[in-house]
Amino acid sequence: MTQNIWKEVVINPQEKTPLYKQISNQIELLVHDGQLKPGFRLPSERTMAKLLNVSRMTITLANEEMKMKGIVRSHQGSGTFILRGTRLKEKEVQLDNPVDFAYPTGEINHGMDEIMSLGQDQSLINLGGVGAAPEVHPGIEFSQCFAEHLRRNPVLLQLPSPTQGYEPLRLEMINWLKKVGVTAELNEIMMVSGAMQGLDLISRLFLKPGDFVIMEEPGFLAAADAFTATGAKILRITLDEEGIRLDSLENMLMQFPVKFIYVNPTFQNPTGITMSLERRKQLLHLAKKYGVFIVEDDPFSLLYYSEKPDPPIQTLGSDHVIYIQSFSKYLYPELRVAVLVASEGIIRHLSKIKQRVDLHSNNLTQIALHAYITGGLLETHIQKLRYGYAQRLKEVQLRVKASSFLHCQIPKGGVFLWCRIPKEVPAERLLEVAVKKGLTFVPGNWMSGVGLYDHHIRLAFTHPSHEGLKKGLDLISDAISAYKAYQF
Ligand SMILES: Cc1ncc(COP(=O)(O)O)c(C=O)c1O
Repeated sequence: MTQNIWKEVVINPQEKTPLYKQISNQIELLVHDGQLKPGFRLPSERTMAKLLNVSRMTITLANEEMKMKGIVRSHQGSGTFILRGTRLKEKEVQLDNPVDFAYPTGEINHGMDEIMSLGQDQSLINLGGVGAAPEVHPGIEFSQCFAEHLRRNPVLLQLPSPTQGYEPLRLEMINWLKKVGVTAELNEIMMVSGAMQGLDLISRLFLKPGDFVIMEEPGFLAAADAFTATGAKILRITLDEEGIRLDSLENMLMQFPVKFIYVNPTFQNPTGITMSLERRKQLLHLAKKYGVFIVEDDPFSLLYYSEKPDPPIQTLGSDHVIYIQSFSKYLYPELRVAVLVASEGIIRHLSKIKQRVDLHSNNLTQIALHAYITGGLLETHIQKLRYGYAQRLKEVQLRVKASSFLHCQIPKGGVFLWCRIPKEVPAERLLEVAVKKGLTFVPGNWMSGVGLYDHHIRLAFTHPSHEGLKKGLDLISDAISAYKAYQF
């Protein structure tokens, strides 16, 4: 097998099919034609990227797709190999037919995979995912606090963990939640392994095939994945400057058996829009009128730049709201800790489901978070984040103003900037050019459930260093110019 075979893999950037799919489809054909034999080792991702003149990320995704289809198998350290032909045929039948799986992973959008895999590439300036930049990172303070706490209380490591969470942390949450105005009793509080687990548990409890969920358009893509994985359908509702539009929402509630309305009302992902108080009240009124729950995802409320936002919808009517506050954006996404607040009955059901998938959330990170909060350190850290992010946003605004290509909505808090790019530049294609230039962001259409926002991008401005941020923003304009000049 020679290098020449790769000349047969012809990719066309003008086609609608993403490049990685074009590559995996063509390699699949080469296998079927017998030109690539079982056991053949594919070139390394780096070499393949060079041979096909695409980014390494595109090859990683193509390999993942081929693994999913059962065409190749990877062995840690030794490479990626074509599977045996007979195996391939069997697998294809199963994998191409989602009926074989109860959980239709094939229908799940590839956006989260890409955000996470690009986020791991240290050579890229990361405006895609969220994390704290070096100057606002809790750094060694967090680990010292944890180490000191364990040194004084070694017995903590041997305590059994209840499913609802480490009890001292749950107790502390009663106080912590008051910062955003949420009042809850101990039996209405449960710790989960990140907001994502909360959303998954809620989906498992409420949704079955044929059910409907309402969510914002555009909205948090991983939440959409959790809902659709149950077989439920999502009804998308656009936003105006006050949040989700209620005229369309009531229409949907009248027509469909909706189970819950999922919203991220404060500094929304991806638009940064904050729902007005009046809208919050009206939304709750509609939820009560039609007897549906609101699932309120609130990971950003404390990250306001100057003015405190309106209180969560939960504070206006706790019976109809399941509230989730993640600590990923306040501390580290890697902690995988979030707090979920709901009625005692709902908490009981959710913890039964949690027991089946995760006996309890990681106790070490819960103990660490508890020590950090009770030491007053998280409060101080969040103040630092507010100031640091507000400064960063000023910097970003200056650069955005100087660019004739970017038109961005300026948020009053949170971590995202939602920007319109020229209409002749498709966001997904721009990402491919940007990755070659050393930058990543999230194309707007990944946040859409109805194929919109092809000419929008989401920029998370909290992660890179100060210098990286400036360079990253300049690179976006460079990538847009390059795209316009050469129409990649
Ligand atoms: C609105 C929203 N909810 C939830 C999450 C995920 O939170 P966690 O890391 O706690 O799962 C994110 C992450 O970006 C988010 O933007």
